[in-house]
Amino acid sequence: MCFIIVLFGTTLFTTIEPAQLPSYFPRCYQDDRNINECFINAANSLNQYVRSGIPEIGLRPLDPFVSPDLNLTIESPITDIAASAQRFTFYRLYNYRLNSAEVRPKDGAINGTVTLPDVGLSADYQVHGHIVNLPLSGSGDAKVEFGNIICDFLIDNWLEKFSCNEIKLEMSCKIEDVKMNLTGIPNEDATNTLINLSSKLVASELSPAYSNIFKLLFRPFLKRLCRKYPLDHLFPLSS
Ligand SMILES: *[C@@H]1O[C@H](CO)[C@@H](O)[C@H](O)[C@H]1NC(C)=O
Ligand SMILES: *[C@@H]1O[C@H](CO)[C@@H](O)[C@H](O)[C@H]1NC(C)=O
Ligand SMILES: *[C@@H]1O[C@H](CO)[C@@H](O)[C@H](O)[C@H]1NC(C)=O
Ligand SMILES: *[C@@H]1O[C@H](CO)[C@@H](O)[C@H](O)[C@H]1NC(C)=O
Repeated sequence: MCFIIVLFGTTLFTTIEPAQLPSYFPRCYQDDRNINECFINAANSLNQYVRSGIPEIGLRPLDPFVSPDLNLTIESPITDIAASAQRFTFYRLYNYRLNSAEVRPKDGAINGTVTLPDVGLSADYQVHGHIVNLPLSGSGDAKVEFGNIICDFLIDNWLEKFSCNEIKLEMSCKIEDVKMNLTGIPNEDATNTLINLSSKLVASELSPAYSNIFKLLFRPFLKRLCRKYPLDHLFPLSS
């Protein structure tokens, strides 16, 4: 009997006192015909808050953002790379621009396009292989400045009937250009110059790998957010 009361009490507690969104968080309502525009404006008003972190939604400060160590491979007709990286650090991820979005709270889905105009990256790396047919092997530190990164994304299964473990994130990014400065590779200056000369092609070869990296970094955050806020809570039915 006691056990049941405790369970019930706990349930009641979470029902009465749901996690509170910060007051500066714009609200967009499901009965708003312009919910998509509302969401775009809302997301684009949060850059500086995202930069310094939003504890209420489990977002830590984003600038810089240090990713866990990672290994990556890229295979294409002109590129075969195996690399591992430590202190993989992103800059200016907060400076995103949501270009378009389609919000479907009843389906538990949001999709759209986001542009990251000036992401920077630094990392310690070990690399072996070829990129756009240039040999690239060695270890050292990399400094990278990306041009526009334009990502199509789809978030799906944000529904109570699914557990948040099944939340789905698809991400397909196109990197328009890239400036790289790699130390510790043979013929450092010549190789950096050749990479520079083919920078748009190098950027396009890197795009699938970065789509996967963003997906790996963003999905755990989405899962936490889903556990804390059903989509109906982020997008209430009506004002
Ligand atoms: C990357 O690969 C190295 C060598 O194979 C391995 O020791 C390391 O644990 C891997 N790191 C990750 C994050 O998978
Ligand atoms: C959302 O996805 C649908 C279906 O794939 C697509 O037709 C639509 O253009 C997408 N919307 C945005 C804003 O990307
Ligand atoms: C390539 O090098 C030139 C000359 O140093 C520099 O002005 C330019 O920004 C570099 N471009 C890229 C994409 O690295
Ligand atoms: C590349 O980085 C090294 C050290 O990190 C620096 O000394 C060098 O000036 C940089 N080269 C360019 C072209 O920025």
